[in-house]
Amino acid sequence: MKTLSSVTELRAALADVRQSGQRIALVPTMGNLHEGHLALIELARKHADFVVASIFVNPLQFGVNEDLERYPRTLQQDQQKLQAANCDLLFAPSVCEMYPQGMQGQTRVCVSGVSERLCGAARPGHFAGVATVVCKLFNLVQPDIAAFGRKDYQQLRVIETLVQDLNLPVQIISLPTVRDNDGLALSSRNGGLTAEQRQTAPALYQCLKQMAEAIILGERDYSKLCENAKNQLSQQGFRLDYLEICAASNLEPATTNEHHLLIAVATFLDNIRLIDNIEILLSVKFYR
Ligand code: PAF
Repeated sequence: MKTLSSVTELRAALADVRQSGQRIALVPTMGNLHEGHLALIELARKHADFVVASIFVNPLQFGVNEDLERYPRTLQQDQQKLQAANCDLLFAPSVCEMYPQGMQGQTRVCVSGVSERLCGAARPGHFAGVATVVCKLFNLVQPDIAAFGRKDYQQLRVIETLVQDLNLPVQIISLPTVRDNDGLALSSRNGGLTAEQRQTAPALYQCLKQMAEAIILGERDYSKLCENAKNQLSQQGFRLDYLEICAASNLEPATTNEHHLLIAVATFLDNIRLIDNIEILLSVKFYR
């Protein structure tokens, strides 16, 4: 597997691949790779002949008091994992390479609607940062396919909307959240949890499952369900950012007529932000 850090080299390497008629898949990441990322590489491999991963901790999507500096950077280990996962090319640019004119005047892509609630409300500017860097990566790699995890469900909807609204010629594919045995959603941020916090963290998914089961059994008082769950999580030591039952399509608060629901949660354990979600398909009484 080749690792490239310059845009010029990347474009040259991919021009050859494209010319030989191969389908290209892109898996954009911020590194510190775990099984969830590697599952995306595997999925990408099933849909394409040539798999590109990118590792770039994108400053544009971090707010001023967020964890940009603390975000784990583990390039060497990541390279080994990607190599073992049969990835063809890693693009790992520097901040200067991605934003040569600096970030101040950088053109930003704002996806309205789906960007605005949940993490968008809690982290102003976050999704403009994500949409901008993903748009740049799509322009650089020009993939046929790009793969994202459903753990970042809102991010996935933002990117799907971006692709649709700007007619970008890329197919978005996704994978359900990959979890540890105790249910905790895999995340690069989990490594920052203390041993005690790591014991508490799986309660988040347990709580989402309880809510999903109640809805499947017919509970339709969504605000009461959320209130009870928030109290339960607060007592367990979580500091709630949001917990909402939404329409999975547009992430607006769910009405009782909605069949495809998303229960989305964002919490802190000390200064570590954990997000998770469960999708519910009421027509077939199924959640994941
Ligand atoms: O999900 C992530 O790791 C990032 O938000 C992404 C999509 C790579 C954009 O920086």
